[in-house]
Amino acid sequence: MDQVQQIHSKGIYHGLPTFSDDVEGLTAIVAGANGMSGDHMLRVLCENPKRWKKIYAVSRRPPNGQWPSYVEHVSMDLLQTPETLAAQMAERGMKADYVFFFAYIQPKPKEGGDIWSAADDLVKINTQLLSNFLEGQALSKTLPKRVLLQLGAKYYGVHLGPAAVPQEETDPRVLLEPNFYYPQEDCLREFAQKHGIGWNTTRPSWIPGAVPDAAMNLCLPHAVYAIVQKRLGKPLEYFADLAAWETNQTLSSGQMNGYLAEWAVLTDGAEDESFNASDDCAFTWGKFWPKLAARFDIPWTGPSSDLSLYREIETPYNPPPRGFGPPGKLRYRFTLAEWAKKSEVQHAWQEIAQAHQLRDQTLGDIDRIFGFTDAAMTWSYPIHFSTTNAKKFGFFGFVDSSESIFKVLEEFVDLKMIPPLPPVKSVS
Ligand SMILES: NC(=O)c1ccc[n+]([C@@H]2O[C@H](COP(=O)([O-])OP(=O)(O)OC[C@H]3O[C@@H](n4cnc5c(N)ncnc54)[C@H](OP(=O)(O)O)[C@@H]3O)[C@@H](O)[C@H]2O)c1
Repeated sequence: MDQVQQIHSKGIYHGLPTFSDDVEGLTAIVAGANGMSGDHMLRVLCENPKRWKKIYAVSRRPPNGQWPSYVEHVSMDLLQTPETLAAQMAERGMKADYVFFFAYIQPKPKEGGDIWSAADDLVKINTQLLSNFLEGQALSKTLPKRVLLQLGAKYYGVHLGPAAVPQEETDPRVLLEPNFYYPQEDCLREFAQKHGIGWNTTRPSWIPGAVPDAAMNLCLPHAVYAIVQKRLGKPLEYFADLAAWETNQTLSSGQMNGYLAEWAVLTDGAEDESFNASDDCAFTWGKFWPKLAARFDIPWTGPSSDLSLYREIETPYNPPPRGFGPPGKLRYRFTLAEWAKKSEVQHAWQEIAQAHQLRDQTLGDIDRIFGFTDAAMTWSYPIHFSTTNAKKFGFFGFVDSSESIFKVLEEFVDLKMIPPLPPVKSVS
């Protein structure tokens, strides 16, 4: 049977869903409201004040910047007991039709380990955040119709080595290590079943997005690297190998993830479903690198063919998450975290930051901030998210990932996180 569906474009975002005008006067809670994902979720909901008449923004610190008066910040520490949270919810009259949950804590990694190496701590603390919040909702008798929880690419075990491609929502869980996404998802599903409400989970990959502070911020290190290299009269040197240069990577822009989340909870047929969150755009670091260099008007270099120049790390499990075949090999000549620790780099950044009165005069927690982008840039095996499930259910969102990153860079300028960008030049 033929079905006609209307989609629309908004700026760089295309294929966005449309909703009936009858869908109005809704209320939402966004937990993790000032983070990478929560901030963009708020932006998406605030695009339609008729649809979303009231939004509770939950996080310990306030949301970034200015928001309309119907966005109410509720400062809550979700590590408090459900009883305490329930009392706060009741006191604030906090009742919402839909909950979007992005609260996240990234515990300190193990000594010498990657940024997600404290696997047990990640499980304990992040399951607690979610469970305390949900039980608080039940105790205060303010259950929503549906709760959406954002998970991520680690659901597929890609942080432990190559996983089967394309990654599909029905892929089996990877049980090589504790993974906080699984107990979080189970907690939500059991809670939803017990209380007769709906749930959704979404799974983004690397997220381009512009917020002043996030546990994982893909784009900021790129900008800092280009700006400082230019200042030092050096090229934008690609530091990983050819495999990482040309391997397909899914990017999942924060704003697009917000559109997906809104669509998922408002779509009856999509209840109790998981969706990969994706820009749905073919992307490699190799194709992006010259564009990034052009945006900052500096020369660039690509991967070296001399393998002896690289350090090599093997992913930790044999067989890797795909269940057979060799582990992945990650090769790099240096890391951005090492680069950022050089005194000439720190000195240059301080001068730039002072001259432009930037928000941060230092490079901050270098291992956390630059470590995430290092992981993304040295990834030598594909993250290729299937968008089949979302499309079958009716979501067709697309954004050019490179355009999305450049938009983020411009927003960094507005946020005083980096100096103004040079005028746009086309890539030859
Ligand atoms: N960023 C990425 O590239 C990426 C990629 C794939 C998947 N993901 C996943 O997406 C989810 C959200 O990540 P994100 O990147 O949006 O996180 P984020 O930017 O680090 O934001 C975390 C949010 O949680 C809040 N929070 C932390 N501790 C809290 C507490 N005790 N009580 C209440 N709120 C608390 C923070 O606000 P306060 O500190 O003010 O409380 C902040 O709003 C995570 O599961 C993450 O693994 C992220």
